[in-house]
Amino acid sequence: MTKKPNPKIEKLRRLKEQARLGGGIKRIEARHKQGKLTARERIDLLLDPGSFREIGMFVTHRATEFGMPEKRYLGDGVVTGWGTIDGRLVYVFSQDFTVMGGSLGEAHAHKIIKILDMALKNGAPVIGLNDSGGARIQEGVDSLGGYAEIFLRNTLASGVIPQISVIMGPAAGGAVYSPAITDFIFMVRHSSYMFVTGPQVVKAVTHEDVSFEDLGGADVHATKSGVAHWVGDSEAETLMAVRRLLSYLPQNNMEDPPVVETGDDPLRSDEELDYIVPDDPSKPYDIKEVIHRVVDNGEFYEIHEQFAPNIVVGFARLGGRTVGIIANQPAVLAGVLDINASTKAARFIRFCDAFNIPLVTFEDVPGFMPGTVQEHGGIIRAGAKLLYAYAEATVPKLTVVTRKAYGGAYDVMSSKHLRGDFNVAWPSAELAVMGPDGAVNIIFRRELAEAEDPVARKAELVAEYREKFANPYIAAARGYLDDVIEPHETRPRLINALEMLQNKRDSNPPKKHGNIPL
Ligand code: HXC
Repeated sequence: MTKKPNPKIEKLRRLKEQARLGGGIKRIEARHKQGKLTARERIDLLLDPGSFREIGMFVTHRATEFGMPEKRYLGDGVVTGWGTIDGRLVYVFSQDFTVMGGSLGEAHAHKIIKILDMALKNGAPVIGLNDSGGARIQEGVDSLGGYAEIFLRNTLASGVIPQISVIMGPAAGGAVYSPAITDFIFMVRHSSYMFVTGPQVVKAVTHEDVSFEDLGGADVHATKSGVAHWVGDSEAETLMAVRRLLSYLPQNNMEDPPVVETGDDPLRSDEELDYIVPDDPSKPYDIKEVIHRVVDNGEFYEIHEQFAPNIVVGFARLGGRTVGIIANQPAVLAGVLDINASTKAARFIRFCDAFNIPLVTFEDVPGFMPGTVQEHGGIIRAGAKLLYAYAEATVPKLTVVTRKAYGGAYDVMSSKHLRGDFNVAWPSAELAVMGPDGAVNIIFRRELAEAEDPVARKAELVAEYREKFANPYIAAARGYLDDVIEPHETRPRLINALEMLQNKRDSNPPKKHGNIPL
C-alpha cells in the first residue's frame, strides 16, 4: 500500500526548492545568458561532487523599510555550508547576485559570520565566492555593522586558517575589504571587478572617465594594484585553480602541509642547470627555468604572476613536501628589488611562515632599484617589509645564490645572518657590497681621474675586483654560505636539507605582535 504524502515533509521540500531558486528562474536565466553561473553551480564546481552540505537555507532578512518585506528571499542572497576538496574539509559561502544583487544586509552578513566562526573553531580553510553590490542600501547601518563583523573575523582568522576569496562579479564598496584581508584573491577576467568607489563616483569627484574594467577589472588588479593573486579566463578555470592551491596548504596553522607522493626521484640531478647562468653577468636568464628543473615534476604554482615580475613567488613540492619559492627574476629588470617586488614577496613569506611552509629562495639580485620614483614611493619602507618578513620567519629557510647577491639585497634575501638554515651558492655566485663596475668607480675614483688611460685602467681594476670579490668563496670562508654546490645537484641537496630540517624548532621572543613597517 502506498502511503499518503506527509504534508509537513512536502512543505519542507517546497521551501527548500524555493530557497534553491534564489531570486527566481527569470534572474537565473538572465545570469546564464551573461555566461555566469549561479551561486550554487559555483559551489558544485568547486567542491568534490556531492560533498556540499548547506546550512541557513531558511534565513531571511527582517528589514521593514523601502518595500523590503516584499523582497524576502529564503537564504537572503548567500549560500553557506561546508564540503570537501580532495577529501579535505572546507567551509564556503557563495553570494547570490539574483537576490538584490548579492547585496549584504544583516542576515546575509550573519550567515557569513557563522561560516567564518565555524571554520576558525574547526581549523579548516574558508573560501568566499564573492558576487555583490556591496552594503544593502535599504538596511543601512545594519549592513555596515555586518561588514565590520566580517572584517573582524577575517582578521582573527588570519594566520590560523587559509582564507581564499574568489571574485566572480562586482565587489564594490565594503565588499572589497573582506577579500583584501584574506590570503589570496582570485578574479575572473572580464567578468569580475573590484573598487572602493565605482566609475560614477570617480567621475563626480575627479572628473575622470573610466570603465569598470579599467578601474577595477581582473587584469588591472593582477598587473597594477597587485590586489589579485591569480586570474582565470573563466569561472570554471578559476575555481579549479583554487582547488589546486589548497592541495599545497595545511588545513590550519597547527598542521604541516600534506606530503604527496609525486613520483619524481629526490636524487634526480639536472646537468642543464650547469649551463643555465650566462658567463656574461649582465646577460639575463629565466629563473623559472631553474625552478621548473629543480621542483617535483616541474610543477610550479605561481602566485601574483603578472605583478612585479622581477620577483617570482609560488608553491611547489620538493620530495613531496610543499615549499614556498621566492626567486629574483634576472629576466625582468635584472631581478632588481623595487617597491612592488618587496611587498609581493614579503606578504608571500609571511603566509608561508604562518602555515609551516618552508621557504626556498633563489637569489640573483643586483640590489634595490635606485631613483626618485622609488625613494619617494617608499622603497625604504617596502624593503624593510621584506627584510622583516624573512627575519621573523621561523620555518626552514633554504637559499641558493645562483649569481648576484649585492648590497642590502644580499642581507635581505634570506641570508645566513637572518637565521637562514641552509645557504648555498653556485660557483657563478658573486657576493659583494656592489657590482664590480660601481665599486671600482667609487673606491678608485681619484686613481681613475689621474690615470693616463682611464678606460684601460678601469678594465684592469674591474677584473681585479671581480677576481677578488665577485665569487662565493669569501662568504663561504666566513661560513655565511654553508657550501658551494654544482648547479646540477641543487634538487637533491635541497631535498636533503628539507629532510634535515624537518623537526626544526625556532621561535621569536614573546610579544603581542611585531610592528612590521606597513
Ligand atoms: C541593495 C542592490 C545593491 C545594493 C545592487 N542592488 N546593489 N540592492 N543594495 N548595494 C540590486 C539592484 O537594485 C537590482 O535589484 C539588483 O541588485 C541588480 O542590480 P543591477 O544594478 O540591476 O545590476 P547591474 O547592472 O549588473 O549592476 C551591478 C552593480 C550596481 C554595479 C553592483 O547594482 C551597483 O552599482 N550597485 C551599487 C553599488 C554600491 O555603490 N554599493 C554600496 C557601496 S557602499 P532588482 O530588484 O532590480 O533586481 C558600501 C559601504 C560599506 O558597500 C562600507 C564598509 C567598509
